[in-house]
Amino acid sequence: MPLHGKDRVRARLDDDVYSLGALDAAVPKFRVPADGLRSDAAYAIVRDELLLDGNARQNLATFCQTWLEDDIHRLMDTCIDKNMIDKEEYPATAEVESRCVHMLADLWNCPDALDSIGCSTTGSSEAAMLGGLALRGRWRERRRAEGKDISRPNLITGPVQVCWHKFARYFDVELREIPLTRDRLGMDAEEVLKRVDENTIGVVPTFGVTFTCQYEPVAEIARALDKLQEDTGLDVPIHVDGASGGFLAPFVEPDIVWDFRLPRVKSINTSGHKFGLAPLGVGWIVWREKTDLPEDLIFWVNYLGGNMPTFALNFSRPGGQVACQYYLFLRLGREGYRRVQQNCYDVARYLAGRLEKIGPFTILFDGDSRRGIPAVSWTMTEGADPGYSLYDLSDRLRMRGWQVAAYAMVPDITDVVVTRLLIRHGFSRDLADLFVEDLERAIVHLSAHPPISPSAEGSFDHHAVSTEQLRARRNG
Ligand SMILES: Cc1ncc(COP(=O)(O)O)c(C=O)c1O
Repeated sequence: MPLHGKDRVRARLDDDVYSLGALDAAVPKFRVPADGLRSDAAYAIVRDELLLDGNARQNLATFCQTWLEDDIHRLMDTCIDKNMIDKEEYPATAEVESRCVHMLADLWNCPDALDSIGCSTTGSSEAAMLGGLALRGRWRERRRAEGKDISRPNLITGPVQVCWHKFARYFDVELREIPLTRDRLGMDAEEVLKRVDENTIGVVPTFGVTFTCQYEPVAEIARALDKLQEDTGLDVPIHVDGASGGFLAPFVEPDIVWDFRLPRVKSINTSGHKFGLAPLGVGWIVWREKTDLPEDLIFWVNYLGGNMPTFALNFSRPGGQVACQYYLFLRLGREGYRRVQQNCYDVARYLAGRLEKIGPFTILFDGDSRRGIPAVSWTMTEGADPGYSLYDLSDRLRMRGWQVAAYAMVPDITDVVVTRLLIRHGFSRDLADLFVEDLERAIVHLSAHPPISPSAEGSFDHHAVSTEQLRARRNG
């Protein structure tokens, strides 16, 4: 029997990161500490703090990718030091970006995909800003050439994601957002035509509306604008916000005409990190023709050794997401993307079928691939009074780790409260069943123990309000 002295054991004890003094003390929160830590101790602290984040795979509120295969992790690691802006230093990454742009132009039926122009961005928000700036720039050019006023540009949209509110605010454009009604959950041609005038820089239909999950009728709007041009000479371009739909319809419903097959569609944005299946941090924008992007928006970057054209709001940006997007195009091909997206639609439809039977719910969107994105949304059935609200239900589901968006709709139907589930790559039928079991349990619990006063507001806010709006809410 060997003898074990304390001193011999202590050396081994010290190896355990949780036996270090650093993990037995409060961690610095507001000041950079004077001295550093062992890397494993610092890593353990940060990793453990992050444990308190929600589990991304159970986040049914996000549109973004939460399941990524091992090769994507490896590629991200390979690219960790590649800067997307240094096109001269990293010409291969730049080449991969260019290939993706042309592949997307082709996917979106650009008549001359090889001659189209576009770029990657950090996401659809940046892409939307670039799209909006190009519309404003082209409108200004036309107006200047005609000697007309350029001080009051406006943009017509349906219920848009906050990025378009930002665009309008940051770049001084009046946003003419079409309010919703209970019978019309998106823009239509009639409502667009009511708002168009000579100062309209463009119309932005959303192909996969954030709040309703539905596609807005791009072809119908394009036809109405064609007719308007015939009648009045006003030539109003379309930019499609295809943040989600841009990676869905081309694979699952290729005969829906919403893209560059419509000559009036001048540019399209999408999020690579949503249904493009790439890791967080990549979006795309493609213009139909080079002339749709005003030249004075392009900067030539020459101090890194070359002379490259760029159009971006950022400068340095990681290259890994772009490499992964290209990997995914190669890895999946059109058929692979179709199968992945079709699975998501199948699970969404399956869930819609089950949800209606288990609660006092009316399905608002059932994941129909002809009408929108793989998602399910529902409201409380009119007249039903189960003693709890959809906000309570969403809170209760959190106890089992599920993050489910419950939110008030956009104007003019802010009294309609909706619950929405996004079905993404990696959310299998089995996970859907587990979710339904938890939902049933939550309903049983809330029915037996209704809250004293049902919540009228959720912890999830979709609309990212401005400071002014927040003040107005607090005051009123
Ligand atoms: C329709 C639409 N446009 C734009 C965005 C912003 O996209 P991103 O998060 O890629 O910046 C979203 C995000 O949900 C969206 O749904």
